Order: sequence, then structure tokens, then C-alpha cells
Amino acid sequence: MILRTDAYVWKTDAASERCNMNVLIVGSGGREHAIAASVAKSEKVEKIYCVPGNAGIAEIAECADIKVMEFDRIVKFAKKHDIGLTIVAPDDPLVGGLVDALEAEGLRAFGPRKNAAILEGSKAFSKELMKKYNIPTAAYEVFTDAAAALDYLNSAKLPIVLKADGLALGKGVLICNTLDEARNGVKEIMLDKKFGTAGNKLVIEEFMTGREVSVLTFCDGKTIKVMSSAQDHKRAGDGDTGLNTGGMGTFSPSPFYTKKVADFCKKNIFQPTVDAMAAEGREFKGVIFFGLMLTEDGPKVLEYNARFGDPEAQVVLPRMKNDIIEVMEACIDGKLGKIKLEFEDNAAVCVVLASEGYPVSYTKGYTIEGLDKFNADEGYYCFHAGTRKSSKGIVTNGGRVLGVTAKGPNLRQARANAYEAVNWVSFENKYFRKDIGKAIDEA
Ligand code: AMP
Ligand code: GLY
Repeated sequence: MILRTDAYVWKTDAASERCNMNVLIVGSGGREHAIAASVAKSEKVEKIYCVPGNAGIAEIAECADIKVMEFDRIVKFAKKHDIGLTIVAPDDPLVGGLVDALEAEGLRAFGPRKNAAILEGSKAFSKELMKKYNIPTAAYEVFTDAAAALDYLNSAKLPIVLKADGLALGKGVLICNTLDEARNGVKEIMLDKKFGTAGNKLVIEEFMTGREVSVLTFCDGKTIKVMSSAQDHKRAGDGDTGLNTGGMGTFSPSPFYTKKVADFCKKNIFQPTVDAMAAEGREFKGVIFFGLMLTEDGPKVLEYNARFGDPEAQVVLPRMKNDIIEVMEACIDGKLGKIKLEFEDNAAVCVVLASEGYPVSYTKGYTIEGLDKFNADEGYYCFHAGTRKSSKGIVTNGGRVLGVTAKGPNLRQARANAYEAVNWVSFENKYFRKDIGKAIDEA
């Protein structure tokens, strides 16, 4: 029973029923802007804060210049601003234990604790978990010793995949076509420590072929609810050429994620993963992002992430009908079973506008024009990634600058809408892929 003295309910036992809540979002990219836009629609929310945020997020939230790994400052900020829920979006603070740091001070946070975020933080851990609980994934071996890894390569089948164990900004995966490339990769990861301590352990994995699908899910430690599927485009260039990036665009839903595939995944991958984590004493509350490959032998897990994807969130969240705060609170309170997740029966496409030269080197500080044309009520969103306010207006401030997102009644129309909206925005050195969602034509 909650005692209400006025419309504002403060520190009751049932924090989930608290109205007029202040929410803090931790992060600064397009994903965080998409989360902030969803939070802004919640009837439970009074005010949104974001650390450190960006110029787009600043239009709907009060941003403060605190870095995502400055845990003490974040905890202090949450206390000072009477934050009822902190949403930790990026991998580094999740794996580093920001949720634990907030909870230790009696604050509520959405995201897995450190002992569960290891699902993303250690590829060796996640592979061993899948093996132990029979969750389909590529065959693999784990090495802590470079000589043993090099020796193993002599009898390995090519191509072969090398993965640094820890977080490496999405760059710790090498697909090697020749033995020389693979030997060099082992050396770079394990001896030269190209990805730092992430390379203390190495996973060597069988190469799989098939279509990739990203499936985001909410988990409350025992129940798992699946969001609409998506597909990312990781390479910088058209036709999946060039270097790997953080993601150049997405579409949702994926036409390749059929009911048959979904049923298989739910039974053999999703629920078993949540159950496995619980059985290991690592109850997972938050978002599990399943990176799947639809192989000839059925769907297999490529990777787990312990968070929303970027730019997957940009196409999935605008289509979600639920109040996001209600869903997140249900995850924290172990009540997800009571929530019916609902998505609009339409589609969305996100085209990332980057700075020419990304992901290697690029210039920042160019003025961005055309941002005022977007109207979410009409299904057009411009999520900011690398932007900042300056005396010249909003300027580019990163490799990935904006995520231009549009909805449509179907994928083809959403794609046409997104590419039309791409033309509304201009800045010097604007670069984007022209083929986001091309795969739709093969469905
Ligand atoms: P990950 O960070 O583990 O998702 O790997 C990044 C990308 O590398 C994936 O999105 C895939 O395109 C590719 N990849 C990872 N593991 C494999 C594998 N075993 N076989 C083929 N491609 C892979
Ligand atoms: N889009 C892939 C990721 O967020 O890791």
C-alpha cells in the first residue's frame, strides 16, 4: 500500500509505482538518444538527466559533463538529483559494475550487475556457458598461452575466427582467411596486446556462414521477453566492404527472423541462456542482445551483449508500444511475466550519417543543418551520436554523427523514407552507406 500525500510519491516500498520520477541515462550515443526519446514518452517520468549526453539528448534531458566510468560522480549525481531510476546503457560501465555501485547506495538501476554483465565482458565465459548448457554456438577453444594458440592453428580449418576475450570497442574479432593472417592475429592480440588486457585470453572459433540477426530481449532474472528483431550493417562500405564499424545502419524487423526461427531461438537459446545465468548464480536483469547467425544447421549465437545495440535501439525502441519505464521496473522487480511487450505492426530503417574517414580518421566541428525537419509524430527521428553544441550551432563531434531513422508501413517504405530524410541533413564530410536494408529485397 502506498501512502500518497500528493501526486508525488517518494521512497515507498514499491518504487515501481512511483510517479513523477527523475530518470538518469548513462551514455552519449544514438542508442542513448533513442532510449531518452522513449523515456520522454513515459507517464511516470518528471525529468530526464543524462551523463554525458550529446546535443540531441540535451533537447530532452539535462546533460552533465560526467564520464561513464566516473562511478563516484555518477552515484553522487543520482543522489543529488533525486534519481528514481538510472539506466546504464553502454558496455564498459555495465561490465565495470556501475549498477552494483548505484545499488550499494540504495539507488535503483536498470542493467545487469557486474557478475551478470560478464556475459558480454568475457567471450571465454560466454562460450563456456553455452557449451555447458548446450546452447548452439560455433565450436571453439580458449587459450591463455600464445604458443599453444599458435600450435592449435596448424591443424585448424580456414577461415578461422579469433576473438579477444574482453571488451575491445567491437574491434576484437578477427576473421582470418590464411594461416599467416591467423598467426599474426594471435601475436597482435596476445603478445602485442593490441586490445590491452582484453587479449589476456583468446577464443579461437569455427567460422560460420549465414545471415546475421540481432535480437534484443528484456530479462528479469528468470523471465525473458523478446523485442522486435533487427539487422545491423557493421562494415563501413557498401556491399559489406571496408573496415568494421560500430554499425552503419539497421532495419527492423528482420524478414529472415521467421516464426520458425523465433520459436527455435526462444526454446533453445533465449530461455536457456537466462536459466543458465540463474543456475550459475549470475541472475541477469536488463537487456540481453543476442547476436545470431542463421546457419544451415539452424540459428547459432555469435555473441551476447549485455545492453541495447547501437544502432539497433534506434529502430526497435521507436516501434515499442509499452511504457519503457514500466518494462524496466518490471525487470528490476522480477515482474516481467506480467508485462505484454507490444510492437507496432510496421518497420523502421536507420541510416547512420558518419564523418568521411570513419572508423579510421576524420575531422570534427562542422556545422549541421536541417535538424529541425524531423517530426517523431510523423515517424521521422534524427538520433544524435557524435554531436555537440557550439557558438556555430550544433556541430559534428565524432565518427558516427547522426542516426536518421524513419518508420513506414513496411520495410521497403521505411527504407525509402529514411533515405529521403538523409537528404534533409547536411554537414561537410557527410558519409553514409547507400545500401542499408538492401537485404530486404532478397527476403
Ligand atoms: P562479434 O563481436 O562476436 O559479434 O563479432 C563481430 C562480427 O564478426 C559478427 O557480427 C560477425 O559478422 C563476425 N563473426 C563473429 N564470429 C563469427 C564466426 N564464428 N563466424 C563468422 N563470422 C563471425
Ligand atoms: N550494433 C552492434 C552492437 O551494438 O554491438
